[in-house]
Amino acid sequence: MSIDVVVLAAGQGSRMKSSLPKVLHTIGGKPMVQHVIDRASALENIRLHVVIGHGADQVREALAGQSVSFALQSEQLGTGHAVAQAMPAIKAECNDDGVVLVLYGDVPLTAVDTLQSLVDIAATGQLGLLTVELDNPSGYGRIVRNTDRQVMAIVEQKDATPEQRAIHEINTGIMAIPTLHLARWLPLLSAENAQNEYYLTDIIAMAAADGVGIEAIQPATEQEVQGVNNRLQQAELERWFQSQQAETLMLNGVSLADPSRLDIRGTVSHGQDVFIDVNVILEGDVVLGDGVIIESNCVIRDSVIGTGSHIKANSHLEQAQLAAGCDVGPFARLRPGTELAEAARIGNFVETKKAQIGAGSKVNHLTYIGDTRIGQGANVGAGTITCNYDGVNKFRTEIGDGAFIGSNSSLVAPVEIGNGATIAAGSTVTRNVAAQELAVGRGKQRNIAGWKKPVKNS
Ligand code: UD1
Ligand code: CA
Repeated sequence: MSIDVVVLAAGQGSRMKSSLPKVLHTIGGKPMVQHVIDRASALENIRLHVVIGHGADQVREALAGQSVSFALQSEQLGTGHAVAQAMPAIKAECNDDGVVLVLYGDVPLTAVDTLQSLVDIAATGQLGLLTVELDNPSGYGRIVRNTDRQVMAIVEQKDATPEQRAIHEINTGIMAIPTLHLARWLPLLSAENAQNEYYLTDIIAMAAADGVGIEAIQPATEQEVQGVNNRLQQAELERWFQSQQAETLMLNGVSLADPSRLDIRGTVSHGQDVFIDVNVILEGDVVLGDGVIIESNCVIRDSVIGTGSHIKANSHLEQAQLAAGCDVGPFARLRPGTELAEAARIGNFVETKKAQIGAGSKVNHLTYIGDTRIGQGANVGAGTITCNYDGVNKFRTEIGDGAFIGSNSSLVAPVEIGNGATIAAGSTVTRNVAAQELAVGRGKQRNIAGWKKPVKNS
């Protein structure tokens, strides 16, 4: 059996008040429509169709390179009309026992299990409907059942009678339908209703009339079917999503000082006994080894932190690779291409970029290290700058094992400092320094005796 997933994403989302199409607004750093696609992709044997309209080019671009086909709905004439736009692509490929799963691009967090259950229902030739009981059902389509509790129809709020409006079971919009039935019903939809739209929901009454079974199931939580129409709902769903992620981390052995003050915008894999303090943001793919400690206010993006490493407060890491036992921060900035070997130490107000720093080496204070390789056991003094850029090109600096760079030195690249070499504090180094040499590159100190201080003009 094949599943054609139709993701409705043509609506404007005007209540977001944004130039970005609604479905590209993010939850956990990922566009909502991408959440929908990723979850659907966990099902077997699917083909993805995204119905686009408002902001079509932006949505297309955001999903470029994925195996998704697009159906353009140039006028938004309703959910039934939207699904119909995807049918030519579906019919062309359809086999007799196929199923269409309808999802909304602005309902991002439906559980894969829930989707699977709907598909399983449709695979038996019935219509699978996802419904939920709401205290306040206002605005939603109501589920109309007969006295035997069988679903007979969905009535939109604007078309509903007062009795129907009193129904608390609502249509989430998510459903799975046997493809052959859907293909037969869609052309029969009419727009003679309060909104002059082609309602997908009208196929429910058609199914009932045709004697096709309708089975309604409910999600495990309301948030699974929560749509996002404005930024308030987006923020609410974001908090729920983050709380879910935090819960998963904790149940897998990570200690969080406060689960409500961690944000994960990507994926985290981790070892045992990791501790994360408050206000930490983890983005992209982050790997945390056993016993890693991350102090408060750190932002860590696409980085690997080795076993037992300690990231102190207010540090910012991006595309950094740390071996075991490293010590970073507080207030360190590790930019892309930073690689720390075992037990390396980066201290406060240090910026690194494309820098390989050898085992046990220390760069402790107020320093910039860029396009540089530092060997093992070297010590870089406070205020050292690798001058890697002449305004046009970048050049490399090599610092050998056990080298000692005195404070406030400028290493003008390209330059090599040999193993065990010493650079006197305050030097500007423009020539290579051989192993074990001392380089002094600074003006000689003169002390002027009898110096008269200037006197203030009256
Ligand atoms: C729809 C359902 C309603 C349900 C509610 C759940 C219908 C007729 N009504 O109502 O029963 O309770 O969702 O939120 O189906 N879209 C398109 N093209 C269109 C129209 C809509 O792509 O022409 C997309 C929208 O971008 C959105 C989704 O379909 O992602 C739902 O559209 P929306 O206008 O929010 O539907 P409702 O009227 O709220
Ligand atoms: Ca809606």
